[in-house]
Amino acid sequence: MITRGNPQLNRNGELIHLLSTEGLGKANINHILDTATNFVSVSDRDVKKVPLLRGKSVFNLFFENSTRTRTTFDIAATRLSADVVNLDIARSSTSKGESLLDTIDNLTAMAADVFVMRHSESGAPYLVAQHVPKHVHVINAGDGRHAHPTQALLDMYTIRHFKGDIHNLSVAIVGDVLHSRVARSNIHALTTLGCPDVRVVGPRTLVPSDMAHMGARVCHTLEEGIRDADVVIALRLQNERMSGALLPSSQEYFKHFGLTTERMKWAKSDAIVMHPGPINRGVEIDSAVADGPQAVILSQVTFGIAVRMAVMSIVAGNEG
Ligand code: CP
Repeated sequence: MITRGNPQLNRNGELIHLLSTEGLGKANINHILDTATNFVSVSDRDVKKVPLLRGKSVFNLFFENSTRTRTTFDIAATRLSADVVNLDIARSSTSKGESLLDTIDNLTAMAADVFVMRHSESGAPYLVAQHVPKHVHVINAGDGRHAHPTQALLDMYTIRHFKGDIHNLSVAIVGDVLHSRVARSNIHALTTLGCPDVRVVGPRTLVPSDMAHMGARVCHTLEEGIRDADVVIALRLQNERMSGALLPSSQEYFKHFGLTTERMKWAKSDAIVMHPGPINRGVEIDSAVADGPQAVILSQVTFGIAVRMAVMSIVAGNEG
C-alpha cells in the first residue's frame, strides 16, 4: 500500500483528496460534517440543486460493485450541478488490458476534475492521487480492506445527529472487523473526534487482539461488547474477502453475535443500531432489529448524500 506522506492534504492542511480518515485532523472532519449539515436541507427543496460544481466533471469509477456509495455519489454530484460520468467498468477497456493509470490519463484528457474511485486493491486511490495533475481530486469510495472514508464520515454524521456529542459515547462495532474497511475508517474517525469508548466485538478469528493498537477495546463476547453502548454498528460477514474457513457457519455466527431484540437489551435502552449495508438478515442482524425502532440504517444512506456533497465541494474548492 502506498501511504507516503499525507497526499490528501495541501501544505495548509486543507483537504485536496479524500483517501482515508487516518491522517485527518479533528478540524478536517468537523469541517466536512458542518458543511454536510448545510447540504441536508438541499434535499428538502423543490429544486434540489446548488451551483457549487457547475462546469466541473465528476467521474465515478467503481471497479467493485456498489449500490449505496455509487448512487449517492451520483446524486450528490448532480445536486452540486456537476457533469457526472459513471464509467461502466465491465464494458471499459480495462478488460482489454489497459492499466489503471492509463485509464486515468485518458479520462483526465477528457477534462475530469474529480475521480470517485472504488477498487479491490488497497492503496489504489493513493496511487491515482499521486499520479493525477494538481487540479484533479481523488475521493476513495472504498479500497480493499483498507479504508472507506465517506462511509465513516456519514456514520459520524449519523451518530452526531442522533446521539449528540461524540465525547460522551460508547460505540461498539460488531462483526467481521478483520476484513472491514468501514471498521478501520470508523475507528480512526471516532478516536480522532474524541470518542472515549470504542469497542470492536466478534470472534477471535474476525477480531484479532492486535486491533487494540488502533485505540479500540477488543471484546470476544457480544454481551461484554455491547453492554451499555450508545451506538451499535453491525458489520456484514465479508465472505468474499475470507481466504479460509474463519467461521464454522453463518448460523453459528448468528447464534453468538447476531443482533436480536433480546440481545439489544444489553445496550442502553436508547441505543441506535447502524449498519453500512448491504445487510444480511439472519446472519449479523435479525430483521426485527434491522427494521425496528432503534435502527437508523436508512438515515445513514440519506445522510450519505449530504456528506458526499460536502466532501466533493470541499476538495474541489481547495488548491493542490
Ligand atoms: N456501504 C457501502 O459501501 O455500500 P455499497 O457497497 O452498496 O456502496
